Amino acid sequence: MRMNGMLIAIDGTAGTGKSSVGKAVAAKLGYGFLSTGEMYRALAYKVFEKHIEPEDHDAVLAAARQLHFTFVRQPDASLKMYVDGEHLGAKLHLEEVGNVASRVSTNGEARRVLMEKMRDVGEDGGIVMEGRDVGTVIFPDAEIKFYLDASAEERANRRFKQLQQAGEHPNYQQILSLIQQRDYRDSHRAVAPLKPAKDAIIIDTSALNLQQVIDAVWEKIQHYAS
Ligand code: DC
Repeated sequence: MRMNGMLIAIDGTAGTGKSSVGKAVAAKLGYGFLSTGEMYRALAYKVFEKHIEPEDHDAVLAAARQLHFTFVRQPDASLKMYVDGEHLGAKLHLEEVGNVASRVSTNGEARRVLMEKMRDVGEDGGIVMEGRDVGTVIFPDAEIKFYLDASAEERANRRFKQLQQAGEHPNYQQILSLIQQRDYRDSHRAVAPLKPAKDAIIIDTSALNLQQVIDAVWEKIQHYAS
C-alpha cells in the first residue's frame, strides 16, 4: 500500500459519469479526487488562447512543458486545479475545449509531460484518479481499476437532457455525432488509446442511474479492502 492509501483508477468513455462517481467514492474514503481530463482541457485552453494549431506537435509540446499546475484539496474531496496560478473553472468544460483536448491528447510527447505531473499527484495514494489511461498507462500498478462504459446513444441522451435543463435547445443527432467522433479519436490514437486494462472491473452504466453505479463501485472497493 502507498503512504496515504490506495490509488483507485476510473477510466472509460466520455459521459459515463466517471467524475461524479469518482468524487462520491473519494469523499466516502476521505481521499482526494483528480480528473486527468481537466489537465488535458487546461492544455487545450492554453493552446486555444495562444492560437496554436492543435496538430502543431512542437508548439503543443512547448505549451505542455510551460503549464504549471497546483492542486488544493476541497471539502468535497476534489482537488481544485490552478493553472499558472489561475482557476479556469467552467471555461474548461466548454464543448470546444473538450474537442481541442481530444485533439491535443494525440500528441505522445505532450502526454508524457502531463503524465509525469499526474504521477507526482498520485504516487503516494489516497486518491481516486479519473481519465482514459489511468489504469493502463499512468498507474498500471493501481490497487483497483474500474472501466465505465455506456452506449453512445445513452450518453448522447444524458447530454441532451443536461443541455435542455440548462435552458438550451440541443440537437440530439449533432450531440451523438460529436460523441462518436470523440470515441473514435480517443480509442484509435497511436499513444495510450482508450481501452480497459486487462485487470479492470468493467461496468456498463447504460441501464444504471448514478447512485447504482456508485453502489457497484463501492461494493467492489469494500470487497478489495476486506
Ligand atoms: O474526460 P474529459 O472529457 O474531460 O477529457 C477530455 C479529453 O482529454 C478526452 O477527449 C481525451 C483526453 N484525455 C486523455 O487523452 N487521457 C486522459 N487520461 C484523460 C483525458
